Amino acid sequence: MNALAETAELLSSLRGVWDEEAVDELDHALQSAARAIDDGADDELVLAAALHDIAHSPAFDATAAQRHDETARDWLTPRFGERVGWLAGQHVAAKRYLVATDPGYGAGLSPTSVQSLLAQGGAGVDDELLDHPWWPDAVRLRRYDDAAKDPDARATGRAATIEDVLTIAERVLRRS
Ligand SMILES: [Fe+2]
Repeated sequence: MNALAETAELLSSLRGVWDEEAVDELDHALQSAARAIDDGADDELVLAAALHDIAHSPAFDATAAQRHDETARDWLTPRFGERVGWLAGQHVAAKRYLVATDPGYGAGLSPTSVQSLLAQGGAGVDDELLDHPWWPDAVRLRRYDDAAKDPDARATGRAATIEDVLTIAERVLRRS
């Protein structure tokens, strides 16, 4: 199976998967992509936003879901390149960073995100990451992630579609 078919299958498998948020994982993925597009993100960043939580798919086992940032990175990198994998792989680190550095950020986190923060090591800044050229985009992705939990987004046209994500994935593949 090629990377596009695998991506389509993985996205579809997220329908009906709930991580105790207000939307299921497919809606979360499609809203993350839409928020990235709204922000003028490049294709790789949109794709990383759409696929950052794929480890919640039943295609992965429970261990993979637990370290879900690394699972996303390891799945995406060989298919869509270093940057897409890296950006998706930093969404937990970006949350820890925002909690540590943005006083208003923690208040806007969903209850599930607050709860998982503890298991993820709590607030914290990794100095090495701050110097990384892609770090600002990892933080942008985290903002899309947090804004992608709106139960009304599909009805009000504020979500992307699987086809939109696949079109972007195809462009990323063509360029690599
Ligand atoms: Fe997420």
